[in-house]
Amino acid sequence: MKDSLRTVLYPGTFDPVTNGHVDVVRRAVRLFDRVIVAVGSNTAKAPVFTVAERMAHLRLVCRDLPGVSVASFGGLLTDALHDFGAVAVIRGLRAVSDFEYEFQMALMNRELAAECETVFLMPSPGFSFVSSTMIREIGRLGGDIGAFVPPEICPQVRERFAGAGS
Ligand code: COA
Repeated sequence: MKDSLRTVLYPGTFDPVTNGHVDVVRRAVRLFDRVIVAVGSNTAKAPVFTVAERMAHLRLVCRDLPGVSVASFGGLLTDALHDFGAVAVIRGLRAVSDFEYEFQMALMNRELAAECETVFLMPSPGFSFVSSTMIREIGRLGGDIGAFVPPEICPQVRERFAGAGS
């Protein structure tokens, strides 16, 4: 029998996960029965945190959110969508500047797999300027990342960058 529960896949690099990402997960939880937050690999990025670390961070910050699980995938997003039995991909749109890249990726994914639909969710405007790259830079240079990263993972993120900027 076909599973009537609707699963959605929220892929990203999450290096590290930010308050903006969590905001998107919370919105997805209200729309879908199951949300799989999946650490994928962007070949243009060299992450600071390992896949296992990023998954552990995500598990911590999503532990109280109903229907949310954490996974990783190594190949194409369209294959992961199929493997996880998801009906759509979630992507966050922070600002108009995200649109072109996201639009291109959504259309390419649909070209690769016709059933691959992308649902865009807008995080609260208060998170529109947050990015993992900026958080890593602030951390490396000894700034306070506390306002941008979920409190559960702040100690781990701070520890990783301790002394890095000197
Ligand atoms: N709050 C804060 N930041 C957010 C955000 C939000 N709500 N939504 C996105 N971002 C930021 C991320 O922090 C990240 O910032 P950074 O570039 O400074 O690190 C940036 O926006 C976008 O990164 P991310 O969401 O992690 O996606 P990505 O562009 O790195 O893509 C994959 C990651 C895994 C989805 C993508 O590479 C992929 O699909 N890989 C599989 C291979 C594949 O299928 N390729 C073909 C794709 S067409």
